[in-house]
Amino acid sequence: MKTDNQRNAEFKNLLVTGGCGFIGSNFIRFLINNSNFSGRIINVDSLTYAGNPENLEDIAGNFSPRYIFQKADICNAGKLEAIFSQYDIDAICHFAAESHVDRSIKTPGDFIQTNIVGTFNLLEAAKSRGDQFKLFHHVSTDEVYGSLGSEGLFREDTPYRPSSPYSASKAASDHLARAYHKTFALPVTISNCSNNYGSYQFPEKLIPLIVLNALEGKQLPVYGDGKNVRDWLYVVDHCEAIWTIMQSGRIGETYNIGGNAEMENIAIVRLICDILDEIRPAADNAPRRHLITFVKDRPGHDLRYAIDFTKIKNELGWSPRESFQSGLRKTVEWYLNQNQWVENIKTGAYQTWIKEQYGS
Ligand code: NAD
Ligand code: TYD
Repeated sequence: MKTDNQRNAEFKNLLVTGGCGFIGSNFIRFLINNSNFSGRIINVDSLTYAGNPENLEDIAGNFSPRYIFQKADICNAGKLEAIFSQYDIDAICHFAAESHVDRSIKTPGDFIQTNIVGTFNLLEAAKSRGDQFKLFHHVSTDEVYGSLGSEGLFREDTPYRPSSPYSASKAASDHLARAYHKTFALPVTISNCSNNYGSYQFPEKLIPLIVLNALEGKQLPVYGDGKNVRDWLYVVDHCEAIWTIMQSGRIGETYNIGGNAEMENIAIVRLICDILDEIRPAADNAPRRHLITFVKDRPGHDLRYAIDFTKIKNELGWSPRESFQSGLRKTVEWYLNQNQWVENIKTGAYQTWIKEQYGS
């Protein structure tokens, strides 16, 4: 049995996919600033609308050549092979995905390509490295389990019952990762986590969308009756959980990661309104709750997600540190302090910069 430090010492060249997205950028920052990892990080990201190099400006500026960025699409198997041999990749933490349920309803094809075919390409590239390959950590979602009623929690042995093209594509990628472990003995670990929130989240997801709309005095769209429940995981807690699994999780195992923070959507939207009213009152002092607008429900909208994270807690000693109240306040404050980042997303300037830097 290997100890934590032994496995960590084995990773020399860690490939992080989707490192310019929300969780991937937080994970790279966590690895560099707050972990015992001392190897190289090769960030492979195709820079879709959700990939923003500004998310890692500080890291790119200060940690080259320990941190390396490669603009590449995980659907391009040839390019992946070249990157694997150029950088002698011996471990992967795989975040890259199309990640937004609403987009998967409008354009499911992109989800099939990136989430299923892209994951397959990475598994193949990892397999071709043979014995020198140490670990493939696959990052997934609790949405693969489908919807809960008012009772119960998702466990690692809960049957898969995905509802949206997004969750179905993630379920397929989980099955592929597990199959590569069983069939080819590829060293794989998988994590399924609840809804993340925190800094650098693209403002199409509930929390940043509501914060930015509220600041602009725009409507705050709540789907259906607002009573759908999600469990909320602070992104830094998630990064710590992933790194814990990568060091000491059992190969071939799945670990559920939760934030211990079940909330109805409407309660979150109201909380955000109240925090903003307190720290950045509207010009006319009107309460932001007046902006809440109930809109048509999302098709196939899962009612409730909730996580049993006993396995990672008992086996690996991980539990979430952040409370939802303090994490949400920190998150709102982060968005208030990021005028340039927000502006560059709103105007599309970050995409213009990507085109200038890398071509189309
Ligand atoms: P995100 O949408 O913010 O970032 C995704 C990143 O992947 C972007 O940088 C994008 O450019 C990149 N990417 C997309 N397609 C690519 C491709 N074909 N090739 C290379 N790069 C590509 O997503 P996120 O919220 O950071 O989620 C990261 C991972 O975590 C995903 O696998 C997602 O399914 C999973 N997850 C997210 C949440 C959440 O609440 N955000 C919850 C559970 C699981
Ligand atoms: P979202 O952030 O899209 O994450 P996910 O669909 O992966 O859970 O949505 C979180 C919840 O908030 C979900 O129940 C849908 C709801 N929602 C709204 O009510 N209004 C919105 O504008 C958005 C984006 C989401």
